Order: sequence, then structure tokens, then C-alpha cells
Amino acid sequence: MPIDFDRIINRRHTNSIKWTFFDEDVVPMWVADMDFPAPEPIITALHTAVEHGIFGYELPNQALRESVAARMKKLYGWKVDEKSVVPVTGLVSGFYAAASALCQPGDGYLIQTPVYMPFNDIQKNLGVIRQEAQLIKTGKNGRLSYAIDWDGFEKAFNAGGSKTKMFLLCNPHNPTGQTYSREELSKMAELCLKNNTVIVSDEIHSELMLGSAKHVPMGSLSPEIAQQTITLVAPSKTFNIAGLFCGFAIIPNEELRERYKAVVERMTLHVASLAQVAAQAAFSGQCDGWLAELRAYLTANRDFAVGFVENELSGVQISVPDATYLAWLDCNELVASGKIKTSPYEFFLKEARVALNDGAAFGTGGKNFVRLNFGCPREILVEGLERMKKALTQK
Ligand SMILES: Cc1ncc(COP(=O)(O)O)c(C=O)c1O
Repeated sequence: MPIDFDRIINRRHTNSIKWTFFDEDVVPMWVADMDFPAPEPIITALHTAVEHGIFGYELPNQALRESVAARMKKLYGWKVDEKSVVPVTGLVSGFYAAASALCQPGDGYLIQTPVYMPFNDIQKNLGVIRQEAQLIKTGKNGRLSYAIDWDGFEKAFNAGGSKTKMFLLCNPHNPTGQTYSREELSKMAELCLKNNTVIVSDEIHSELMLGSAKHVPMGSLSPEIAQQTITLVAPSKTFNIAGLFCGFAIIPNEELRERYKAVVERMTLHVASLAQVAAQAAFSGQCDGWLAELRAYLTANRDFAVGFVENELSGVQISVPDATYLAWLDCNELVASGKIKTSPYEFFLKEARVALNDGAAFGTGGKNFVRLNFGCPREILVEGLERMKKALTQK
């Protein structure tokens, strides 16, 4: 039976951040989780574990690491040794562990802005120096899209005299939703190898490909690149189990892996037993039918959102994400024309009662943008977009 992604499930009585942070009359289209139940095999596996009733300490076992390696092989033909897989509590903790293993205070780390908020915050939390290569806005086919400014990217290495120890890549990119081509990834990797910079590739959204888009894992490009890359993957976004907290660092380089594991141990980033159960079921292949249907649903939601914004929200430009359930909306024109006098985030929250993410939080290049989460039943998406339209037409 097809999965009913149109079904609206009330999350208000749960402890969901997305649904409880704002007043009840607000449509929440912000935090990156979806309003869909996880696939049945995951729920069944969790039920079985819960029925057993004993929740003692557990270590991620070889079978779990093997299921991660098998998934990489199946999806990308990428051969990963199960010994290269290091389980972590999530991908934010996963890249913080990488930053701690690779950088001393005063060292540099490179990011491509605008980018997922916590990428920006590593500077203040670990005393390392943020080096930015801003993505440049292009108007491919009259639509919002981004390209790498190669000159700026190259110049960002070792900027300000701080040695760039880590390049933290978001692949696919949040918030633009873009994937990177094999050529682009190879060129980025080449510059990292040249500068002796370790690549940390956050690939949390890599299984949420829309339409015919394809993902290329950074670590799969060549053995040489793999030796200098930490690839972070997780079932959390794909199968909507983010609240369980489980991710994996794939580190083929043994010396790097040992350094990384030492940080993971020091911080005791141990994965909860139920998260291990869910991850094993998620990567087993049993949920792939559900995932195919989910991707089709999200692709249709993306196309609907793009069509709506382009036809009904005059003055707003939208990205056409290749991946993720996140759209990136440029509202600069509305601000420049004076139609919006506050930040677009505040405007839509106050006037439309729609909660989006404030683009300013994504760092350089994010001001006057908002990020919209379309991982929800179509009816909720329509309601949110209609409210935004009404708020703009009343201006
Ligand atoms: C690029 C990226 N990395 C990491 C995360 C969060 O990962 P976790 O919840 O596993 O820490 C998100 C969540 O939206 C994300 O978009």
C-alpha cells in the first residue's frame, strides 16, 4: 500500500521543538525534521527492543558498522571497510569531534557561506578561526542558484595567517539545497590536498535526493582523497529519526581515525541503544521502498513550492533544491523596495504567522533570506505559503 504522506498527525501535544516553540496559531516551517512517521521497519525494530524492557549500556557492534559500509557500497559503489566507521551521537557532535581532533585554538577552518548555522559557531565555541569562502549568487534560468567562487575559495585557505586545518563541507548544501558535481568536489579536494587540509564532509542530507539528482560522497572520489577525508553520514534526516541521535564518521585513514576516536571517547559521545537499533533497521534496505515514495512526495512538494513562490510571491526568489526538504528564499528585493521593513523572518512570523528560519543565522550572505521546510503534508505547505502570500498582498 502506498504511504500516506498527506496524513496530518498532530505533534503539538509532543515535545517537538518545531511544533511547541511558537504560539499555537503559527505554522511551523523551520527546524529540519519532517511531519511524517518513520518507516514501519524502524518502528517495528524499536517496538521489539522496547518489549525486551532492559536498556543497559550497549556498544555499537560490528554488524552496525558493516551495515553503514554496505550502504555506501550499495548506493555509490564506494568500498568502505567497516573498521573505518566510527559511530557518533549525531553529525553536529561528529563535526565538533573532528574540529577538536584537527584544530588547536588559533588554527583555521574553512566553510562556504551561507551555511547550516552550527558550522559558523565552531569559531566561538572552540576558539578556532573561521575562514569563509562565500558562495556566489547566480541566476541560472532566472532562478536563484549558487556557484563556487574558485578564486575566493583558494584565497580563503590560511587567511589571516591561520593554517587551515579543516575544510567543513556541506554536501548536499544546507540551506541552498544544491548538490556538488564530481568535478567541483575534485577541484575542492585538490586544493585541500595542496594545502594539507583535512576535508570533513557533512553528508547528512545525501539520501534525500530530489528528482533525478545524484549524490557523490567526497570520500569516494579517490583513495588519496579518502585518506584525507572524514565523511559524516546518518539515517536521521532521511528516515526522520533525528531525535534519536545517531551518526557515523567514515575515516579510512587509520592515524586520523585513532585521533578522532580519542576525542569521541574523551567526550563520551556514546550512541543510545535505541538509536543503534533504529540506525541498523534504517540502513538495512528494508526502508528503501518508503524512501523512494518519500523522495517522490518531497520532489512534488518542492515543485509546488517553487511554482507558488514564482507565481504568487512577487519580489521573492527561490532556490530549486536538488536535495533536502529545505528551500532558500531571497527576500532582498522586498527589503530594498521598503515593502518589508523588518527582517523577512520577523515579517513572516508576525504578519503571516509562519515560522521560517532566519537567513541571517546562516552567516555571511544569509541576511534577508529565509529557509522554508517543505517536509510536511501538502496541506500544511499550502497553508503556510497562502499565509505568506496574504501577508505580502496586504502590504
Ligand atoms: C548539514 C547538517 N548537519 C547536521 C545537522 C544536524 O545533525 P544532528 O542532529 O545529527 O546533530 C543538520 C540538521 O539540520 C544539518 O542540516
